[in-house]
Amino acid sequence: MTEARGPEPVIQAFFDEPTNTVSYIVADPETKQAAFIDPVLDYDHNGGSVDTRSVEAMLTAADEAGYTVVWTLETHAHADHLSGSPYVKAKTGAKIGIGEHIKEVQKIFRPVFNATDLRTDGSDFDHLFVDGETFRIGDLTVEVLYTPGHTPADICYRIGGHVFVGDTLFMPDFGTARADFPGGDVRTLYHSIRKLLALPPETVLHLCHDYKAPGRDVYAWETTVGEQRERNVHVKEGVSEEEFTAMRTARDATLAAPRLLLPSIQVNIRAGKFPPAEANGVRYLTIPVKLKGGAELGV
Ligand SMILES: [Fe+2]
Repeated sequence: MTEARGPEPVIQAFFDEPTNTVSYIVADPETKQAAFIDPVLDYDHNGGSVDTRSVEAMLTAADEAGYTVVWTLETHAHADHLSGSPYVKAKTGAKIGIGEHIKEVQKIFRPVFNATDLRTDGSDFDHLFVDGETFRIGDLTVEVLYTPGHTPADICYRIGGHVFVGDTLFMPDFGTARADFPGGDVRTLYHSIRKLLALPPETVLHLCHDYKAPGRDVYAWETTVGEQRERNVHVKEGVSEEEFTAMRTARDATLAAPRLLLPSIQVNIRAGKFPPAEANGVRYLTIPVKLKGGAELGV
C-alpha cells in the first residue's frame, strides 16, 4: 500500500437485473454502522406500480448482520432506476446523501417536467456532499470525489482501498458511461476518469452497472484501477482526450433513451419521492411529449 489508510469496509453487493444496477451495503465491522449505496426501488412502468423487494433484500441483509444503517448514499440522479433511498430512510432513519451539484440537475429538469413543487436547492436531500469532503460510517472514513461528466453531479465514495464509482466507469471490457444526458459532458467525464485512474493501482473499484460485454456471459462489477488503466476499452492508458471524445460522442449518438429515463429522473431529483398527489389524491408521473409538427398530427 502506498499510503496510510483507516479500517476497510465490509461490502455486500446486490444486483438488480431488470435495471442492470448494482447496489451496495458498506459497513464498519467494528461498530456495525453501515451505509447503503444506490439502492433500487423496483418499478413496473407498464402498470405504474412499485415494489420494494430489492431494497427489502438489502434491509434484511443489514438486519441479519446486525447493522445500523446511518446513510443511504446516491452517486448521482440515476436515469435508469428509481431510488430506494426514501424507503431506506423510512425504515432505518438513515440520511440521504448526494453530491451538491444535484442542484444543477434539479434546475435542468424542473422545467422539463414542469415540477413546480420542486425546490432546486437540494433541500429534499438530507446532505449535499462537496468535493473532498470526508465523513464517517462508524470508524470508517469516507472521502467524496467529485467526478462529473456522465451528469453534472456525479460523486464517488472512497472508503479505504475501495471506491464506489457510480457510472463513471464500467468494467474494462465494456468501457464507460454515456455523457449525452442534459448537463453531461464528454470531456469532463474524461478528466473525472483520469482523476480516478490516478489512484493507487490496487484500489478496488465497485461499479453501479454491468451489462456483460462481448465474449463475457456473466455479470461483473468489481475491478481495479490497475486493470482499468491497462485494459479499459475506452480509456486505457494512452487514450487521449480527443480520441475519447470522438469515440464517446459517436457512440452516444447511437444510444436510445434508457427505458426508465423519464420516470427515474423526475423521481430521483426529488430525492426519490414521487410528485405530489393531484386533486384526486393520485400521484402521477409526467411524460413530456415531443410533438414535432403537432398541428399536422391533428393534436
Ligand atoms: Fe447513471
